[in-house]
Amino acid sequence: MPQNPFPDSVEKQALRRRDAIFLEEFRSRTLAKGLSYCGLTSAEFRDIQAWRPQLSAVHAVEIDQRVLNNMDINWRRLKLGIPLQIVPADILEYLRSSTTGCFEVYNLDFYGGFTNPKHDGTSRCREAMRSLASHHREQQRSFVVIATFNVRDRGVEQYDAFINEVRSALDGFNNVEANLKAHAKSHATKIKLSYMYACWQAGVANDFDVEFEDPFVYNSGATTLVHFCAVFIYRATALATPHADKDSLIAIANRPLKRMDGRIARVDVRPALISRPQKL
Ligand SMILES: C[S@@+](CC[C@H](N)C(=O)[O-])C[C@H]1O[C@@H](n2cnc3c(N)ncnc32)[C@H](O)[C@@H]1O
Repeated sequence: MPQNPFPDSVEKQALRRRDAIFLEEFRSRTLAKGLSYCGLTSAEFRDIQAWRPQLSAVHAVEIDQRVLNNMDINWRRLKLGIPLQIVPADILEYLRSSTTGCFEVYNLDFYGGFTNPKHDGTSRCREAMRSLASHHREQQRSFVVIATFNVRDRGVEQYDAFINEVRSALDGFNNVEANLKAHAKSHATKIKLSYMYACWQAGVANDFDVEFEDPFVYNSGATTLVHFCAVFIYRATALATPHADKDSLIAIANRPLKRMDGRIARVDVRPALISRPQKL
C-alpha cells in the first residue's frame, strides 16, 4: 500500500483517538447521522480510518500530485464504505472559494505553519478561518475544526502582532501581562494563543460560540507540532453579549498547553490566570 510522505507517531495516533471521541460527542449533539469531512487525509487516510464510525462522506483535498495518485489506490484497498471525493487543490484557497460547500468536520493537518505570511503580512490560514465561519453562518451550520501546525514555520514575528491584538482585547483585566509573557516564551505557546484567538475572532464575528478542547504540543521525529480541536456552535438565538465573548477569550488565554508524550498527556505550560476586575 503506498505510504504517506511523512512519519506518523504514537502521539499523533493518541490525538486522533481523542478527536474521535470529540467527533462522536459533536455528532450526537447535532443529531447528525454521520458527519461530512473535508481536509488533508494524505495517502493513507489514517484520520479517516480512526474517525470512520462518525463520518458519512469524505472530501479529501491534496496539493501534491504524487500523493493524489496514491490516494486513489489506497481508498480502493481500504473499502471504508463511504463516498470519497478527491480535490486537487490548495486547501487554504479551496476554503476561501465562494463555490465550496459546507462540511461538518475540517481537518487542517498541514505539517506546515499557522502564519507562513504572504508578502503583505497576512496569514492565509486566518483568512481561511474567517471564510469558513462566514460560509457556515450563511447556512447556520455548526462545525468542527481540527488543526495541526508545525512550530518551525516562518513568520514568528507575526505572532507578536496576534499577541498585541489579544493585549488590546483584554485591556483592563487582571494579570494580562503575566499571561502574555508566558505565551511569548516559545514558538508553541505563541501558536497556541494566536491560533485560538484567530478562531475566537472568526467565530464571534459570525455568530458562533467556539469551544476548544485542550491544545497539545508533541514531537514527531525531529518535528514539533501543535494540535487543536475546536467546535463552532451556531448561536441560533440572540447574540452573546460582548461580556460573554470576552469571558470566552479569557478562557482561551487561561487554558494550559498540554504535552503528549507517547500516550501520556500532561500540562506543559500553565499561564498566569487572567480575571475580571470587580468593576468590569
Ligand atoms: C500531515 S499530512 C495529513 C495526515 C493525515 N491527516 C493523517 O491523519 O494521517 C498533510 C497532507 O496535506 C498535504 N498538504 C499540505 N499542505 C496542503 C495545502 N495547503 N493544500 C492541500 N494539501 C496540502 C500534504 O501533501 C500531505 O499529504
